[in-house]
Amino acid sequence: MSQIKAFLFDLDGVIVDTAIYHYQAWKRLANELGFDISEEFNERLKGVSRTESLDLILAHGGLTLPDEKKAELAAQKNEWYLELVSRMNSDDILPGVATFFSQVRKAGLQTALGSVSKNAPLILERIGMTQAFDAIIDGTKISKGKPDPEVFTKGADELEVNYNECVVFEDAVAGVEAGKQAGMFVVGLGSADVLTQADLVASSLENLTVAEVLARAE
Ligand code: BG6
Ligand code: MG
Repeated sequence: MSQIKAFLFDLDGVIVDTAIYHYQAWKRLANELGFDISEEFNERLKGVSRTESLDLILAHGGLTLPDEKKAELAAQKNEWYLELVSRMNSDDILPGVATFFSQVRKAGLQTALGSVSKNAPLILERIGMTQAFDAIIDGTKISKGKPDPEVFTKGADELEVNYNECVVFEDAVAGVEAGKQAGMFVVGLGSADVLTQADLVASSLENLTVAEVLARAE
């Protein structure tokens, strides 16, 4: 039994629905290259870094390209993604997030962001949630993306808490795996059929209370 001290949150698909914008930008890129990616295939891209996502997409389309071309395509995708997110504001915060965070603070828990996105700080600024996190770990601070646990173990280290004192909130298969590999209790946000490794699954933060999570995790 452990006393939970910190909640670690993924960004895309947990705090804000940028997952759809990543998908739209990748789909546009795949279409320009002459093939398509489905929503089902996209599940494999969630939580995966930009370069690894591109590798998976190119393999899916049966393409092998030189590194220089790949860097160009990754930059193009990011440009389209930034266009899509440029109009985001606090209205884009997912339902239930504000209430859940006020419960987190009342419970005296620490918070960290654990996102492999290099755009995470920009998104947090746009939605006005930078101050909601005691530690921010993004794609610029890690060397290995999810399912490697680094993004979450770094968050716990920065907060100076033990890994078994943390709860991870994730919408991605790779992210759930990362949290489990870190030795943390993982709440999957989405479908129980997809997030099979999660310790607890809810459709979103709107359908959860902090008290419920603590009762299950401790
Ligand atoms: C993750 C997303 O949060 O960040 C992935 O789930 C995305 O879809 C990854 O590829 C990297 O994001 P970025 O903004 O650095 O391209
Ligand atoms: Mg996510």
